[in-house]
Amino acid sequence: TALTPGHHRADIAVIGGSGFYSFFGDDAESIRIDTPYGPTSGPITVGDVAGRPVAFLPRHGVAHEHAPHTLPYRANMWALRTIGVQRVFAPCAVGSLVPEFGPGTVVVPDQLVDRTAGRVQTYFDKGGVHVEFADPYCGDLRDAALQDGVVDGGTMVVVEGPRFSTRAESQWFARQGWTLVNMTGHPEAVLARELELCYTPIALVTDLDAGIEAGQGVRAVDVFAEFQKNIEPLKALVRGAIGSALMGPCESCRVHNGVELPIELP
Ligand code: ADE
Repeated sequence: TALTPGHHRADIAVIGGSGFYSFFGDDAESIRIDTPYGPTSGPITVGDVAGRPVAFLPRHGVAHEHAPHTLPYRANMWALRTIGVQRVFAPCAVGSLVPEFGPGTVVVPDQLVDRTAGRVQTYFDKGGVHVEFADPYCGDLRDAALQDGVVDGGTMVVVEGPRFSTRAESQWFARQGWTLVNMTGHPEAVLARELELCYTPIALVTDLDAGIEAGQGVRAVDVFAEFQKNIEPLKALVRGAIGSALMGPCESCRVHNGVELPIELP
């Protein structure tokens, strides 16, 4: 389907992580959007959840063709904004740095540490735009995601990948008091903030990271298998979160410090 930029299609978006490649039935409308930053990771499908128009974008593409360090983060967030999205739920697979939060635990983090390297993390290459990022996630959206059994808060450290962390790196992260480790949470969150989109991750623990587990360390096959095992409850949780998300503009996520943006937002 061709799309005229600015044409309103959805209020809320879900960006599916590893193993989360579809959200609607086969009859959902599928749209491809080209942006000034190139094409998105994959087609965006639009469907109805709890009476609300929702867009779904598979973060890694429908066949997991994009790696965390080469994802078109800017195109993805831009495209969602283009179709009217204001709020973004971002499910993702994470390793746990806390023994109590084993595989299957769902956490809504409240802080982020950027350990990526060289990823483009802004739309604004001209001076003067410095978004506030002290609290990287939308409080309203976090509340909506905090359904029964979900852990409230924690720090997610985002590593460059695509390799997993060494045992020493992982032990260091844990000693800092950080909770989760992941490869895609940055720059997705800050790009959402720059586009004035509400954003919250919903982190599904797939493994105990190498510094926590005494065994051979994290293996990708185990991460994917664990995510697959929990995908249906995770989708149900996301549907519940969509149903309880507040609608309308969220003033606290419109944080451009009064500066005039050097680009026009879609
Ligand atoms: N994603 C899922 N598990 C992970 C881990 N242990 N480290 C980094 N990213 C992950």
